[in-house]
Amino acid sequence: MTDGFSDTDLFSTGDIFARRELLRVGHVPERDRIVGRDDEMRKVGAALGPATQGGPPRNLIIFGKTGTGKSLVSRHICRRARKHSRENGVDLRHVYVDCSDADTETRVAREMVLQVRDELSPSMEIPAQGIGASEYYRYLWMLLEDVDVFAVILDEIDKLSDDDILMQLSRAEESGKTDAYIGVISISNKIEYREQLNERVNSSLQDRELTFHPYDANQLEEILQNRRDAFLEGVLQDDVIPKTAALAAREHGDARKAVDILFEAGSLAEERTDSKVTTQHVDDAQQRTEVKRFQDLVSGSTPHVKYILRALALLTHDSDDVQFSTSEIHQLYERLAEQEGSEPLSHDRVYRLLKEQSFLGITESYHTGGGASKGAFLQHRLMKDPEIVIEALDTGIEDE
Ligand SMILES: Nc1ncnc2c1ncn2[C@@H]1O[C@H](COP(=O)(O)OP(=O)(O)O)[C@@H](O)[C@H]1O
Ligand SMILES: [Mg+2]
Repeated sequence: MTDGFSDTDLFSTGDIFARRELLRVGHVPERDRIVGRDDEMRKVGAALGPATQGGPPRNLIIFGKTGTGKSLVSRHICRRARKHSRENGVDLRHVYVDCSDADTETRVAREMVLQVRDELSPSMEIPAQGIGASEYYRYLWMLLEDVDVFAVILDEIDKLSDDDILMQLSRAEESGKTDAYIGVISISNKIEYREQLNERVNSSLQDRELTFHPYDANQLEEILQNRRDAFLEGVLQDDVIPKTAALAAREHGDARKAVDILFEAGSLAEERTDSKVTTQHVDDAQQRTEVKRFQDLVSGSTPHVKYILRALALLTHDSDDVQFSTSEIHQLYERLAEQEGSEPLSHDRVYRLLKEQSFLGITESYHTGGGASKGAFLQHRLMKDPEIVIEALDTGIEDE
């Protein structure tokens, strides 16, 4: 050893986490740890029920906000359906396609075929590019020749650029392309997508509809309790999980975000070399995730937009008022821009940039007094927590 470190020292795993993978995005809990979705599991199960006996499955559309367990439940039930089918002598295969990655017909078709190939005929060569959707279908129907039921999960279906894939899947049986019964579970995070989907999709794809609701504080608490093994014994203070669950339930009911905040809280304790995770870490973690979210939101903006928003946030923070005129903002903005060594933009440019921010939901602009003919007086209001904005832009600006 020449660097003076021992291995345990150098590759320290810290004093907070025992199994941090339990808190990672994408961790799939075991079956008995799926909380509060009995009804939803039963409904997805019922759609696949006939298929497990070798009959046609029902199609299903699942709606619900992010982090409500849609992907988890669908994948889990498909896996179970397949196992149960096997016991009944039925060959049911399923594929899972995330349309935010595979957003065209060709990509979805390729993804389906490759997954089926890997299971049924791993040595079969299928070109990864250079061929179109129709060729991929040809391979698919060939592979499915002896398969009884083919279940397809199309996750984040609102990201699909067109509906051709849905048409193909819904017509494959009647047009004699395959003898397998096909069932499609479509999933969307956007409730607004429902109308659009109804118009777009052949009615045969929407036998049933199912909505997943946000989790309440008790359910979130149970989801988090199930993962407390992520932490070393005795590190988590008793009120940490209830507090995280309450916060997450109040804001969004999103299980993924709740798990994220708990992980961040642990990470903060670790960074600060504290020996316990406390509710203070949870508050700070929550703040940190919001700061990150705001930074993502403005990551594409120019430095000037950031100075303008910082000016508005500082004004809001230091005053009892919530609305400020373009001139007030412009004045402070000029000082901030100069401090950063930038030539400030004109009053008029600042006015227009401020109005643009209202499209992102960051600000709102109002006309007051004056009347249009006198050149209405424009007021701007910050729609985010000023402390979050100030912190986000402090680091954001230094980074450039
Ligand atoms: N009912 C649940 N029980 C346990 N963990 C859950 C539950 N629902 C969601 N999660 C956790 O949250 C993550 C996100 O859930 P997911 O199914 O991907 O949500 P959605 O698809 O609705 O956005 C999952 O990977 C899992 O870790
Ligand atoms: Mg999902």
